[in-house]
Amino acid sequence: MPADSWIYLDNHATTRLDPLVLEAMLPWLTNHYGNAGSGTHDLGLEARAAVETARHQVAAAVGATPREIVFTSGATESVNLALLGAASRRPGGRLVVVATEHAAVLDTADQLERQGWPLTRLPVAGRDSDCPGLIDLDRLANEVDDQTVVVSVMLANNEIGLIQPLADVAAIVRRHGALLHVDCAQAIGNLAVDVDSLDADLASFSAHKCHGPKGVGALYVRRRQRLVRLDPQTFGGGQERGLRSGTLNVPGIVGMGRACELATAGVPNTPIAVAALRDRLWQRLAEQVPGLRLNGPPLTPGQRLPNNLHIEFPGIDGGTLLAELSRAGVAASAGSACSSEHPRPSHVLLAIGLSEEEARRSLRFGLSRLTTEAEIDRAAEAITGAFNRLSGS
Ligand SMILES: Cc1ncc(COP(=O)(O)O)c(C=O)c1O
Repeated sequence: MPADSWIYLDNHATTRLDPLVLEAMLPWLTNHYGNAGSGTHDLGLEARAAVETARHQVAAAVGATPREIVFTSGATESVNLALLGAASRRPGGRLVVVATEHAAVLDTADQLERQGWPLTRLPVAGRDSDCPGLIDLDRLANEVDDQTVVVSVMLANNEIGLIQPLADVAAIVRRHGALLHVDCAQAIGNLAVDVDSLDADLASFSAHKCHGPKGVGALYVRRRQRLVRLDPQTFGGGQERGLRSGTLNVPGIVGMGRACELATAGVPNTPIAVAALRDRLWQRLAEQVPGLRLNGPPLTPGQRLPNNLHIEFPGIDGGTLLAELSRAGVAASAGSACSSEHPRPSHVLLAIGLSEEEARRSLRFGLSRLTTEAEIDRAAEAITGAFNRLSGS
């Protein structure tokens, strides 16, 4: 199927590169190939200036100052630097994470646990509650104490779209002087992101989730009000204030800057429009397929990402439905792209209380600002048709 013909509803996995981002990147992939670390000629100096422009763009998009932005290879590396870098300054300090975090957080925390850091994994509200996936703030308050080194809570979940109440989380973490890391990978362009309102010490971002290039991200490291110190995890030329050595990915960084600028320019109007399309898809499907269940929080702004829909289909296997949809030119997924090579049921769905069978019947649809109403209508038809064929109805 030609790439242009797909109805792409897998935008939590990655997004299409915005043509304006590509345009910004192209010079840095062709004639302007200098190393941003080379200060002895103009090719290097212009690359350095381009990186600094991008640093301003990313900072402006998230309410930070440019010197608080460290460029990385993506949110996974940002998370690793945040958690490993904070933990190694306090051996034996407790780590607190939420059960529904992305594997980048959970696996890094598991690794630290194996090396001797005590780890608490907080459960979340179940599917029978008003807001499945929500962190239990009382439980958090009980777990965080003066021995806690870092608490990691994602702003928005990549599977069920739940938005955590970060201001309340931060107030608890602050009482004990622990650091708060917020995984914001899914948030830019879908929510207003402001590191001060989140009261985050550390925050992770990824370019390819907001129509930027893959393989580039950023870590916010607070330097105002509180000076957050991390131990580097990559050693070499001392780039990025010594926190992340390695020659800078100039085209990628330029692309990330432009992507963040474009994505935040559309907030709040674009998310409202995207949510309307998402709601249209849900309504169409709910009308046509009896017994659908919504996984995760209600479709309410502030509780759920505007571009997220996660559905349990009655009586069919999600993997089979996905394959059928793929044949019809609709790209969706069963959960995190990072774990789709290991077809275990989603840890997020299990954490909100779905059984393994219910989780296996569930699919995730992720929209973006490039999704159109016509695509949503075609997708609804394709999904209903595929479901009817498979269930023999
Ligand atoms: C919530 C969340 N955190 C972290 C990541 C990892 O981001 P990256 O692909 O930039 O390493 C992802 C990507 O799926 C994500 O959704």
